[in-house]
Amino acid sequence: MNPVIENLLTRRSIRGFTHRPVAKEDLQTIVNTAIYAPSGMNRQTWQFTVIDHLPTIEHLAKVVGKADNRGEDYDFYKPTAVIIATNHRESRHGCADCSCALQNIFLAAHSLGIGSVWINQLNATCDNPEVRDLLTKVGIPTDHVVYGMAALGYAALPPKEPNKNTQAICFYQPK
Ligand SMILES: Cc1cc2nc3c(=O)[nH]c(=O)nc-3n(C[C@H](O)[C@H](O)[C@H](O)COP(=O)(O)O)c2cc1C
Repeated sequence: MNPVIENLLTRRSIRGFTHRPVAKEDLQTIVNTAIYAPSGMNRQTWQFTVIDHLPTIEHLAKVVGKADNRGEDYDFYKPTAVIIATNHRESRHGCADCSCALQNIFLAAHSLGIGSVWINQLNATCDNPEVRDLLTKVGIPTDHVVYGMAALGYAALPPKEPNKNTQAICFYQPK
């Protein structure tokens, strides 16, 4: 099979990671694919913040868990790296642009044997004062909102079998 198509069809969300860190070089390769995603009117008003410092990831999970009432144990599935996709609060295409970029990140990671999952909880909590304080500390502009986060690492468990809605595909048949 065409290897690009195979990569697309075999990516799965991973929700459990080993302690093995993701090499800086691989993180660089992965995040570089984000800026090659399409963006509305090619504005590229996004930012992709890479964090592979475990205490900071753990701290972020704690404050997000608190802000989102998920309890003390909330841990983003314990990734060894995360990439936070943000965009200008006023950007009309911010969500779509970051979503395209995140998919590049997931597919690039998969092609390198690195697991990933979209973590959505920062979207609703990024303006919580404690969360925002930490986002500012890691370099996210205060006029940006978080559209999604990629949790990255080596899979500790095999992913779930795919459950895809084939009914979603509709070929128009001219009469
Ligand atoms: C917008 C969006 C938000 C998501 N949020 C989460 C999340 O917060 N936590 C999680 O475990 N998975 C999250 N996912 C992953 C989906 O649950 C996953 O893609 C879906 O179950 C299909 O599985 P697959 O990725 O293995 O094909 C999210 C996916 C998208 C596109």
